[in-house]
Amino acid sequence: MNSASAAPVLPGQWLGMLGGGQLGRMFCFAAQSMGYKVCVLDPDPRCPAGAVADRLIVADYRDETALTELATLCPAVSTEFENVPAQSLDFLARTTTVSPAGRCVAIAQDRVAEKRFIESCGVPVAPHLVIESNEALAAIGDSAIESVLPGILKTARLGYDGKGQVRVNTAAEAREAYAALGGVPCVLEKRLALAFEVSVLSARGADGAVATYPLAQNVHIDGILATTTVPAPDAAPAIADAARAAAAAIASQMDYVGVLCVEFFILKDGSLVANEMAPRPHNSGHYTIDACASSQFDQQVRAMAGLPLGETRQHSPAVMLNVLGDVWFEGPAKDRARVPAWADVVALPSARLHLYGKEDARVGRKMGHITFAGASLDEARHACVTAAASLDIPLED
Ligand SMILES: Nc1ncnc2c1ncn2[C@@H]1O[C@H](COP(=O)(O)OP(=O)(O)O)[C@@H](O)[C@H]1O
Ligand SMILES: [Mg+2]
Repeated sequence: MNSASAAPVLPGQWLGMLGGGQLGRMFCFAAQSMGYKVCVLDPDPRCPAGAVADRLIVADYRDETALTELATLCPAVSTEFENVPAQSLDFLARTTTVSPAGRCVAIAQDRVAEKRFIESCGVPVAPHLVIESNEALAAIGDSAIESVLPGILKTARLGYDGKGQVRVNTAAEAREAYAALGGVPCVLEKRLALAFEVSVLSARGADGAVATYPLAQNVHIDGILATTTVPAPDAAPAIADAARAAAAAIASQMDYVGVLCVEFFILKDGSLVANEMAPRPHNSGHYTIDACASSQFDQQVRAMAGLPLGETRQHSPAVMLNVLGDVWFEGPAKDRARVPAWADVVALPSARLHLYGKEDARVGRKMGHITFAGASLDEARHACVTAAASLDIPLED
């Protein structure tokens, strides 16, 4: 069902969420404080949102009986899991209001479709070559490959946190890496000289209104987001405006309903290149919980329920520090378990600690985040540096 045609879903009613990870858990907090009840569907009975949701359906994302149960209970359903099958969203949309639509999620799930769509909105993407299969690659000459080298070979689907990516410097390396990735559809993308990375979080309501948040500056370490600083300290106002306009154009031209995050590279020459988008709240938007008038999860509730969007105004400069499972280990091999120094973190008055309730800490696993919302960005940064030192979290690559 099209969310534009449906009556708003008001507090007191049920909202459905596909996926029960940390994004689903933080969605529950936002929805429940507005008076909604939340039903989460996730295959894992111990998922982070499971302890919080009013109801948890433990089932595969393709289980039509479970999807029907969700659609019957919930007049509006959204997703927090990037790789939820678009067919499942389409199946739900036969009987309930689903946002974002399966067609939008399908674009964001496939780097080839995603790059084509972003370009069709007049927003530049990195120079790249699409490689569909071993046969297709055999027909591509070395000179075509060399035109996008040095490069990064990325699987078109199912990549996240730098997984499914190989850096290559020669045509021979690219061919070898393609075979190693299993001959699945890939893009070979030119490695660009990045000055820094930013993201634009936006929300688009069922009425077509778009609200964008301030430009966020992101540092990744080993392909995983480490910190987000907002407003982006290194971006000139013209860059921030251009990035926000590009993100709004992408959301509008997709006829998107929900929260959308677009990641951009800012190159050394000052130009803006879109990297990828997430059809859901994003790790780089977690700071909005503590530093903005409405959080990204409030907006997800509002958009899916057909309510007007909330205000995106940032009331405090903020730095967000991701807490990975690494923090639960010490020693050069990170093989000795320890209890993280939480006492030192909560001793900082500007620190707001968010832990996701995951029982098993593993290296590289997102376990929580800390937002430092200060009177100034310097104050927030200073607290972040102190906390990172207490927890042994690296702040730079
Ligand atoms: N074309 C590129 N040039 C330079 N760095 C890149 C390029 N593509 C990706 N990266 C680096 O790798 C990180 C992860 O890549 P991304 O495509 O965003 O994959 P993921 O889905 O894993 O987040 C980026 O945030 C950036 O730091
Ligand atoms: Mg990314």
